[in-house]
Amino acid sequence: MIHQISSSICLPNAASVQPSQISYTSSKSDARTKIGYHTKIPRRTHLESLQSGYLFPEISKQEAKHAQNNPHAKIIRLGIGDTTEPIPDIITSAMAKQVYSLSTVQGYSGYGPEQGNKEIRKAIAETFYQDMGVKENEVFVSDGAQCDISRIQILLESSLSAAVQDPSFPAYVDSSVIFGRAGNFQAETNKFRDIVYMKCGPENDFFPDLSATPRTDVIFFCSPNNPTGSAASKQQLKKLVEFAKANGSLIIYDSAYATYITDDSPKSIFEIPEAKEVAIEVSSFSKFAGFTGVRLGWTVVPEELLYSNGYPVIKDFNRIVCTCFNGASNIAQAGGLACLTAEGYKALRTAVGHYMENAKILVDTFASLGRKVYGGKNAPYIWVHFPGLSSWEVFSQILKKTDIVTIPGIGFGPGGEEYIRVSSFGHRESILEASRRLRKFL
Ligand SMILES: Cc1ncc(COP(=O)(O)O)c(C=O)c1O
Repeated sequence: MIHQISSSICLPNAASVQPSQISYTSSKSDARTKIGYHTKIPRRTHLESLQSGYLFPEISKQEAKHAQNNPHAKIIRLGIGDTTEPIPDIITSAMAKQVYSLSTVQGYSGYGPEQGNKEIRKAIAETFYQDMGVKENEVFVSDGAQCDISRIQILLESSLSAAVQDPSFPAYVDSSVIFGRAGNFQAETNKFRDIVYMKCGPENDFFPDLSATPRTDVIFFCSPNNPTGSAASKQQLKKLVEFAKANGSLIIYDSAYATYITDDSPKSIFEIPEAKEVAIEVSSFSKFAGFTGVRLGWTVVPEELLYSNGYPVIKDFNRIVCTCFNGASNIAQAGGLACLTAEGYKALRTAVGHYMENAKILVDTFASLGRKVYGGKNAPYIWVHFPGLSSWEVFSQILKKTDIVTIPGIGFGPGGEEYIRVSSFGHRESILEASRRLRKFL
């Protein structure tokens, strides 16, 4: 049984993903069953190595079966981490204004700067990187963090090695497979041969034991982490930067959930001064502004980040953005800019607050059931431990007893076994209903 989760974990509606749609992107055997005209184009070997496309069809299948056996069940989906609350009016109005101006001679604009409009680059630098020395020209506006996780890797030779937190957001492993740096999948360990899995669990405060971590060229690091919800402390990130610097490694740092941090954990890797020499940061408006469908993110590539030959990485990234991207939608950028006004930002804090109150309800619920619960304090994800049980078994039991869909932790890597991830994205009445059912039936 293959347990690797698909990067499509961030897709809006897992339930709508049909196995037949998935089969084209999944493992080797599927495509071979297709009959009809064949081109002479061989499938890339690295794509053949992908293990994706299994988990969601399996979750959908189990959910569909459950719905069929229980036609009156009101299923609550706390699996996929997609936002549910409306985007504040001040932000949608700014996008609408931009849309209407496109229908006027004076307001029409075509291609913008590939790196993003000057105003939003400046606003991102000032809002998220104040006192960190990040300049607006180091900010590249994108169509989302997930796209940039791959775009950055166009910079990197396939032969370069990579490490990921275990468990972690699946895009790091999947994109490493696509770019040819993962090696073969080892079914016995549920790992790719050439990826270093840095175990992050309660035993090490969800921060890898770097003294036991082999050197890799690239280190993917996500804080607050999806799925565990844990945010690294300043001290921990200092250690990570020192480790990368000692090894000449590159950190690809994902801060997509930084606006959910409620304690003094760093919101950016660039809070660590020397990080500018070793890190690129990807981030997103998705979870902070409900832009999962609008699509807007950014990447910071510091000028101080140099290749081994001294050439600035930012120059190549700029080239890649110009060649392989061509700039984010001007409508999305108008919305993004509105998010960063004082009024827009305040309105968004309310939505973030809503999800974090949901998180507290879920944390309290599982804690009241005697479960060890992690996350939910600095991220909208709850990571619940079921010692000795397989995460698939827990997923099935919860679905069966409560009609609630979660995600089995194993889908985020072998370190996720015995855990489930519960998302706190949802309308309040669904979360309260979920809490009632969990307390009653679990
Ligand atoms: C850690 C992490 N990074 C990136 C993304 C994707 O962000 P975006 O919507 O900006 O592509 C997600 C989505 O779930 C995520 O969990």
